Amino acid sequence: MKSNRRIFLQNLGGLVALTSLEASAKSFNIIKDLKNSPNDKIRFATIGMGIQGHYDTKAALQNPGVEFVAAADLYTGRLDRVKQSFGKDIFTTRDYREILNRKDIDAVIIATPDHWHDKITIDALQAGKHVYCEKPMVQDIKEGKPVIEAWKKSGKTMQVGSQRISGSVFQEAKRLVAAGEIGDINFVESNYDRFSAIGAWNYSIPTDASPETVDWDVFLKDTHKMPFDANRFFRWRNYKNYGTGVAGDLFVHLITGVHYVIDSKGPERIYASGGTRYWTEGRDVPDVMVAMLDYPKSNTHAAFQMVLRVNFANSGNINNNTRIIGSEGQIDFSGNGLVLSKKKLPKAPGFGNYDSYFTFSDEQQKEFEKNYNKIYSDADKKVESIKDYKFFASKGDDEHKNHFGNFFENVRSGSQKTIEDPIFAFRAAAPVIACNESYFNKKIVGWDPEKMQKI
Ligand SMILES: NC(=O)c1ccc[n+]([C@@H]2O[C@H](COP(=O)([O-])OP(=O)(O)OC[C@H]3O[C@@H](n4cnc5c(N)ncnc54)[C@H](O)[C@@H]3O)[C@@H](O)[C@H]2O)c1
Repeated sequence: MKSNRRIFLQNLGGLVALTSLEASAKSFNIIKDLKNSPNDKIRFATIGMGIQGHYDTKAALQNPGVEFVAAADLYTGRLDRVKQSFGKDIFTTRDYREILNRKDIDAVIIATPDHWHDKITIDALQAGKHVYCEKPMVQDIKEGKPVIEAWKKSGKTMQVGSQRISGSVFQEAKRLVAAGEIGDINFVESNYDRFSAIGAWNYSIPTDASPETVDWDVFLKDTHKMPFDANRFFRWRNYKNYGTGVAGDLFVHLITGVHYVIDSKGPERIYASGGTRYWTEGRDVPDVMVAMLDYPKSNTHAAFQMVLRVNFANSGNINNNTRIIGSEGQIDFSGNGLVLSKKKLPKAPGFGNYDSYFTFSDEQQKEFEKNYNKIYSDADKKVESIKDYKFFASKGDDEHKNHFGNFFENVRSGSQKTIEDPIFAFRAAAPVIACNESYFNKKIVGWDPEKMQKI
């Protein structure tokens, strides 16, 4: 049953009644004055309380000195769930603007579908909130710079949510690359295959889904109007109007990890191809996608190619991995660890086996060998075996908690230098959004990673 207070707050109708909203909330002893002492609790709200909103809220709460006070969502069932999971006193609303207008909220987590990220982020920064926004930071490339501008202007802290880079595995990989362990990078490959209905985003739909329980018109935002469709609302990733396909959903994690490890600003050419091969239930985004990205030489890495793949219809033994390959070794990420394998070529090229040597006459073979031994010493010929170094995350290493930890530390110290700030995040988001552009328009997309604009 809804509490009287919630019904009252929901009936207020957005921004109009905020003064009375604050006054009424005060009488319920909910609003406290915001203080700036570093010992004060950071009070946060979550906008979008679906799957990731729940995970994010729980991960944020793992950190000390924070308090979850409010939540917004467009489906009433999820607001009811917030009270069941996090306590009946959490303020809930369908209208996120009610949260932004509360002075007692310092920070917001934005875990809505992708098409709402830019608008809510900008609104939140302008309302003086610190922002933790889920990946991909934006749905469209043209939305990136306005978000960055709003962040700069606000002076507030912002973190984007590809949390893997806050885990010890990616931090160890970064250390290894900086120490020169893999030499000059020349290739990155990564795949993220799945084969299940849930894995392919066909999430469960509640039986009470209806225009009464869902704010359908708000969900549609500026996309074209249509009658209520529970599939589109609860399985929004399957539609390009609301999501960003496999590229924005999954490639973005792969690219973010690589950019962090090798300190890259991004590719200069992007090409993607694919198709909707198995999940033909009505989605308008591909379920198989392969992308090729050309990274130019920069002052932090050599030029290299990156090949990314997602296949939601891989019916075989799935073996997902991400590999960064260099001239002296490769880093292979798998599960909760990495393997660095290193091999340095000897100076002497060798001869024999599958080589032209055996096709020479006996006399020429003898002559060739004599000459070879004159040129190369025993040390030049020494073949080193491949050396492996393995690193595994310790049990307590929680990347999601750490990612929020980094956000809250920056909020406390008044810094904007989060590990995944909007500039870093846009440099990861734009190339994956360009994968969609390449796929749908069948063309190569040019990108200036320095200026962050299409060319
Ligand atoms: N970092 C990660 O590992 C990770 C994992 C999963 C999802 N995500 C991201 O999190 C976001 C949410 O994904 P999800 O799987 O939780 O989706 P979801 O459908 O489970 O939840 C989204 C929720 O947002 C609500 N919503 C939509 N528009 C809103 C609005 N204008 N105001 C308030 N609420 C609104 C919906 O009602 C829904 O409950 C996506 O951007 C996704 O890419 C990140």
